[in-house]
Amino acid sequence: MPRVKVKKEVAKNALSLSEDIRFGTPELVADYRAERLQCKVIADLGCGVGFQTIAFAKTCQKVFAAEKDQRKLEYAQKNAELAGLKNIEFMHGDVVDQAIVKRLAECEIVFCDTERPLEEKRSLERISPNPVKLVEAYSQITSKMAIEYVFPSRSMTGGVKFL
Ligand SMILES: C[S@@+](CC[C@H](N)C(=O)[O-])C[C@H]1O[C@@H](n2cnc3c(N)ncnc32)[C@H](O)[C@@H]1O
Repeated sequence: MPRVKVKKEVAKNALSLSEDIRFGTPELVADYRAERLQCKVIADLGCGVGFQTIAFAKTCQKVFAAEKDQRKLEYAQKNAELAGLKNIEFMHGDVVDQAIVKRLAECEIVFCDTERPLEEKRSLERISPNPVKLVEAYSQITSKMAIEYVFPSRSMTGGVKFL
């Protein structure tokens, strides 16, 4: 997929801190992914404050959004409310925990925009959630997974790998 630089525009009036915007998905990218991954039920793993979740909720019938950070999860819930969306089920926890995996059994597609540290040295172990563990955990549910794990650097804005 070609990589394009996009201006960081996120949903207007969204509740967020500057770090959420820095690591969050620009609206243009979120809408593009939501169109490509349109389905009945999707999971957004590591939803942050919900920029991507909100885009999915406009193209999918139902979205399950999971996040380990309580503050971000609360912001995501508030942002969904502000956007008037009622088809999102939020859950708190580590997405590789079996308790969460089991709750996502009805998902057709599993999406994850992983957390990647801003560092020059690249290492799979530093990505969270770990893509290998994600594939292991979610292959019991679906073979349709889209995991963004490209490492950010000065010359890159990120990318998505469709498995
Ligand atoms: C790059 S951010 C996601 C941004 C989001 N896609 C958006 O549009 O705002 C990655 C998120 O994954 C969460 N995360 C990382 N590891 C996780 C795990 N094991 N379980 C749940 N959430 C996790 C982080 O707290 C962070 O909010």
